[in-house]
Amino acid sequence: KVKIYTEKDRISTEIAALKSKGLSVGMVPTMGALHQGHLQLVIKALGENDVVVVSIFVNPTQFDNKTDLEKYPRTLENDVELLETVSKDQIMVYAPTVDDIYEGHAISEAFDFDGLEFEMEGKFRQGHFDGVGTVVKRFFEIVKPDSAYFGEKDFQQLQIIKKLVEKHHIPVKIVGCKIHREPSGLAMSSRNTRLKPNHKTAAPFIYKTLKTAKIKFGTESANKVMEWVENQFKNHDTLKLEYFLIADAKTLKPIKRKLNKKKYRAFIAVYAGEIRLIDNIALN
Ligand code: PAJ
Repeated sequence: KVKIYTEKDRISTEIAALKSKGLSVGMVPTMGALHQGHLQLVIKALGENDVVVVSIFVNPTQFDNKTDLEKYPRTLENDVELLETVSKDQIMVYAPTVDDIYEGHAISEAFDFDGLEFEMEGKFRQGHFDGVGTVVKRFFEIVKPDSAYFGEKDFQQLQIIKKLVEKHHIPVKIVGCKIHREPSGLAMSSRNTRLKPNHKTAAPFIYKTLKTAKIKFGTESANKVMEWVENQFKNHDTLKLEYFLIADAKTLKPIKRKLNKKKYRAFIAVYAGEIRLIDNIALN
């Protein structure tokens, strides 16, 4: 059976013992309500490490919306069952309480991520990346993993975590993993379970639009593609566009002009009812 730890001292002692035997430790930080997307990260981590720590913690400091925090699905028992389908003896679950992580002070540290934090999600979700940085740095201090796995689903978060470990000299290898999608193309997300049936039906339109945007970007300017996407959503019955933009994949700065040697990505955030969905795609 997968072992569940709720206290940082217990899990860090256990991990120290494993590391002293020369075993490598991978980590997959999550907020639970696990789905196949999370599981892909765990499977990759299992392939590259002797043991894998999966943290399950709905981190209050990264939510700018109280209702979203309250309604975030919490399904620990199911999550553990799902993890046991991939390994029973190589996985440790760390499911701490808010107090175990924050010791009575659930507030964020303020980070400088060289400007990455001011783009996209950083603009629309105040304080979000300070919250993410705070909790992930804490996890790395407690678990001291050799490698940690993050999804490109949250591409900006992945870049920010790379910046976090670089700036704070944290000795962990950050591994990015491809976006896992439903057969419909909708990027898997814990929030998808909260979609109303009509929103669930409409949501694959998001990735469909990204794919067409990618083709258009081959021959058109970023601005033209942006305009086209905005028009696609203007009269949409069920989906509301929050932003669509094309940015440099490294700096995440929106682009004015295409340069041949640079990598670009398109990013989108959409409301389906009260559920906020994000997605992104590599353009070249
Ligand atoms: P959460 O949204 O649970 O996601 C945990 C990890 O799974 C993240 O690295 C995310 O990018 C990845 N992931 C989610 N859906 C995915 C998909 N469809 N395909 C590939 N990867 C996917 O991201 C967080 O939690 C939190 O911000 C956290 C890093 C745990 C800090 O609290």
